[in-house]
Amino acid sequence: MASARRIETLADKTLDYGVDGMRMVLTPEHESSFEELLLDWYSRQTAYGRIAGTGSYVPEGRLTNQDLQKLVETTPEWIQTRTGIGERRVVGEGQAASDLALPAARRALESARVGAEEIDLIVVATVTPDTWMPSTACWLQARLKCRRAIAFDVNAACSGFVYALSIADNFIRAGKVKSALVVGVDVFSKIVNYQDRGTCLLFGDGAGAVVLEATTGDSRVLSTHLYADGSGAKALEVPAGGSRLPACHETVERGLHTVTMPSGQEIFRSAVRGMTEAVQAALDENKVTVADLTLLIPHQANIRILEAVGERLGVDRSRLFTNLERYGNTSAASIPLALDEASRGGRLAPGDLVMLTAFGAGFTWGSALVRWG
Ligand code: UT7
Repeated sequence: MASARRIETLADKTLDYGVDGMRMVLTPEHESSFEELLLDWYSRQTAYGRIAGTGSYVPEGRLTNQDLQKLVETTPEWIQTRTGIGERRVVGEGQAASDLALPAARRALESARVGAEEIDLIVVATVTPDTWMPSTACWLQARLKCRRAIAFDVNAACSGFVYALSIADNFIRAGKVKSALVVGVDVFSKIVNYQDRGTCLLFGDGAGAVVLEATTGDSRVLSTHLYADGSGAKALEVPAGGSRLPACHETVERGLHTVTMPSGQEIFRSAVRGMTEAVQAALDENKVTVADLTLLIPHQANIRILEAVGERLGVDRSRLFTNLERYGNTSAASIPLALDEASRGGRLAPGDLVMLTAFGAGFTWGSALVRWG
């Protein structure tokens, strides 16, 4: 429990209080309910986001390397050795992001034992929303019946979940909300060109979610570090469909509504550099070392990227979580999907330190260090 200390009473009766190194100034009209004000203020200052539950969902359809061999000039062996991906999950006709987000969110709420009506905030990370307007978060809010939740989407591609987690955690730290549902969902099968062998092998569909709850305990999101470099925008984009090139016959005929990636190698190098940098920043800020980490969960982009990050940081293979063999790169879903599998698979115990890190289009990248429990 915090100790409050009255520092001084000024001549004009303004009270200046210090609490565990923080200072609060109260004017005379606050004096009558001072104790409540102080407690309320202090509890808001010290609330952090704790991951109280996780959930995930992948669609039933499978797209194997053998299937891709029928679509483009490639071999299953090339895909397996160059990416580590064996198969991906893909949605059926008519399925959209919120159809995947809904079961993932329900599972997260269930594991957190939190009712939908208790959620104050929904942040959905996605670049494949149900619709451009309204947000997928709003579609989801209605379907979950999270009646009082604020809801909006975040567009940071494969880094989307780390961005969304950081935003939700900061809403909690600012005292604005007490509980948040953070979802990462993407349906890349709807924006991938299955005639482009450079990209179609990488991506799959999926969703993952966590419930964040305000806590004053030690188990919580310890830090988040976010970065962006828009000079990399052209390296990975969907050129049309926005206000620059609205959808028309020509954009459809020229295939501008699907993912273009002129240089996979540039992204490869930037991803290794970015994720390593973001993890190192989190380690430094929290004064911990790689040896303290139970698990490193990187964005599941390519096994060679993940291994290079692990190698640079000195994280051995047993603490490097991977599931891209079964799902490929699910963009914003990849980290919460992996986190849910790690949690349900018994890979995380209370008190463990888990590092999340991502890199994606934008460029965007970042990390989150979490004390599990
Ligand atoms: O979240 C971020 C999303 N993006 C990424 O994560 C992409 C990161 N980049 C990568 O994962 C890799 O760069 C790729 C998997 C995309 C490509 O692997 P690579 O080892 O960088 O291959 P490469 O582009 O250097 O191509 C090597 C060779 C080339 O042939 P030549 O010029 O050596 O004769 C390509 O034409 O492999 C050829 N190639 C293929 N061969 C069979 C390229 N794609 C394929 C393919 N099947 N699908």
